[in-house]
Amino acid sequence: MEEKNSCEVPFMDLRRMLSLEKKGIEQAFSRVFESGRYILGQEVRSFEQSVARYLNVKHCIGVSSGSDALLLALMAFGVKAGDEVICPVFTFFATASSVARTGAKPVFADVCPGCFQLSPSETQARISSNTQGIIPVHLFGQCADMEGFKAIEEKKHLFLIEDSAQAFGASIGNKKAGTFGSVGCFSFSLLKIWLLLAKLV
Ligand SMILES: Cc1ncc(COP(=O)(O)O)c(C=O)c1O
Repeated sequence: MEEKNSCEVPFMDLRRMLSLEKKGIEQAFSRVFESGRYILGQEVRSFEQSVARYLNVKHCIGVSSGSDALLLALMAFGVKAGDEVICPVFTFFATASSVARTGAKPVFADVCPGCFQLSPSETQARISSNTQGIIPVHLFGQCADMEGFKAIEEKKHLFLIEDSAQAFGASIGNKKAGTFGSVGCFSFSLLKIWLLLAKLV
């Protein structure tokens, strides 16, 4: 006998989410189809401009995913085999795997026991002569201790890439997550909190 599915609530109901913004999404798709520009083009440009305006930063570059944003940021800093980049022990795997994709070594530092964000003092303890930079992660829409990381960045002359994949729209005071360090990387995949903010952008 066929067993009845005990879970009637879908893990993720994309149809329901779509219904909230259906018209706008259909219009955007149709603009893309009509322009014939499926890669880059005006739609991407206006998205980049909206995000830059929202974050109050000069530059924003649209890429295919948060993981690629991290990889491109590391490549822009010339990270290579033999280099070390400090990452938190507790994060989504892409933080460390993007370091490994460059050939460099992800060095793990512990998180604060109360907030689960990368700890500046644990990070400081793992800096070696091979360390090129740090990737603090703003987990679960909360911000890491950016004052602590800015102090290390200035003292040790390291780059600071903020993994803000889970924190689009989070802020410390009136400064948005992703705008403190050298580069901020965001994810617009389906399970991220930006969906709640879609109307703001
Ligand atoms: C902290 C963190 N960094 C990076 C990523 C990667 O983003 P994407 O899934 O867009 O590649 C994610 C996605 O879950 C994430 O949570």
